[in-house]
Amino acid sequence: MSRFTEPQHPDFQAINASLGFDRRLWPYDIAQSRAHAIMLASCSIITTADADELRRGLDAVAAELDGGIFVFAPGDEDIHTAIERRLTEIVGAVGGKLHTARSRNDQVATDVAMYVREAASVSSASLTGLIEVVLDLAERHRDWAMPGYTHLQRAQPVYLAHHLLAYVWMFLRDRGRFEEAVAACGTLPLGAGALAGVNFSTDRELLARELGFAAVAQNSIDAVSNRDFALDYLAAASTCAMHLSRLGAELVLWSTSEFGFCELADAWTSGSSIMPQKKNPDAAELLRAKAPRVAAHHNALLGVLHGLPLSYNKDLQEDKEHLFDAADTLAGSLAAASGMLSSVSFDRERLAAAAADEMIAAVDIADLLVRAGVPFREAHGIVAGLVRHALDSGRTLSELSDDELASHSERLDPAGFRQLLEAGSWLESKVSAGGTASARVTEQLAGARSALASPS
Ligand code: ARG
Repeated sequence: MSRFTEPQHPDFQAINASLGFDRRLWPYDIAQSRAHAIMLASCSIITTADADELRRGLDAVAAELDGGIFVFAPGDEDIHTAIERRLTEIVGAVGGKLHTARSRNDQVATDVAMYVREAASVSSASLTGLIEVVLDLAERHRDWAMPGYTHLQRAQPVYLAHHLLAYVWMFLRDRGRFEEAVAACGTLPLGAGALAGVNFSTDRELLARELGFAAVAQNSIDAVSNRDFALDYLAAASTCAMHLSRLGAELVLWSTSEFGFCELADAWTSGSSIMPQKKNPDAAELLRAKAPRVAAHHNALLGVLHGLPLSYNKDLQEDKEHLFDAADTLAGSLAAASGMLSSVSFDRERLAAAAADEMIAAVDIADLLVRAGVPFREAHGIVAGLVRHALDSGRTLSELSDDELASHSERLDPAGFRQLLEAGSWLESKVSAGGTASARVTEQLAGARSALASPS
């Protein structure tokens, strides 16, 4: 029987069906259905024989889905209806008992929470792998000097290890955010029913234990409406993808002939269809361009939830494609970042030559004056004058004569000035905590390794 006298319009079915994308939830749907059958029997809501029959049927359905031989029927609106339909075909009328004390509303919320929990742990594990790759790269380039940039203008020299370690800290924070997203998935919606609870004395604690949830949702309305955990995952994914886009942007720049700082392995580049000499950093470019897509999914789900009345509304079906595409996109980007960084090679000479530009010692010269008692702001002006003078006369700073130096400031010690301009000293002088001096970078490597080892 049906309350409807008219069939659904095919265009309605097309917009309403979620099977095309939610079929990938099947492992979670089967797992929760198994647990639900066990719970129903344990609470004497169905018999043990019925529960055994349901589990046998669910195993058979799972085998078909896993083997790719499950045949979807035209009336299967979503994965939940498809599984129940097939279960009933296999075990007969007892299949209809599975949905006792359950609604698709608590069912889908549970599947999605299980999916997000898995996706967040996978992202976290991929980050652990990526961090290991970057740490190893930093280790191998501990004392390679390069220019550090602000405004993409050469600013102060740093060690390549120091620059790479900046990404390690970003990725460690990302991993922490994914672990928090895992925790946000820890409250079980199942057992909330459609929205108000169910007419049976169920054992939701048992369900939580079976399905690996830390606790049971305390409010049935919240349980079926809540998608905060999905937002948490998408927010973590957006930030992580943004970090990867900054890495991608640097790899694109650094691998140009203009910079020449690094060369990406052939495996992560492509050729041009017309210009035979080209080696394009497509993977790095895509790291850049995938990030806004992930952020858009976060924004879109926020939009779906915005102003949505309680409790379940069909709008919530729109959570899935955003989640799935964000997780898939991020997984691809993380894999590409690890692959590229495992195989990139840096050009020590090019980096060192760029870092040896004397102009980037300007702050160090100013600090020389500060040590002679000149207030920093005044020293800044004196060095700006020296830089201007050198540029105007087409010379480097070290080519200025002692008289010229004295004409800018008699507090500037020419011997100290010349010593300072001998390469290397600008890096090793950055001894403040978190600075680029070798001893600090060594400490930082150890700190990052221990942060990596400790669960976030
Ligand atoms: N496909 C639906 C979704 O993803 C399942 C829940 C349907 N519930 C309902 N009351 N129509 O949200």
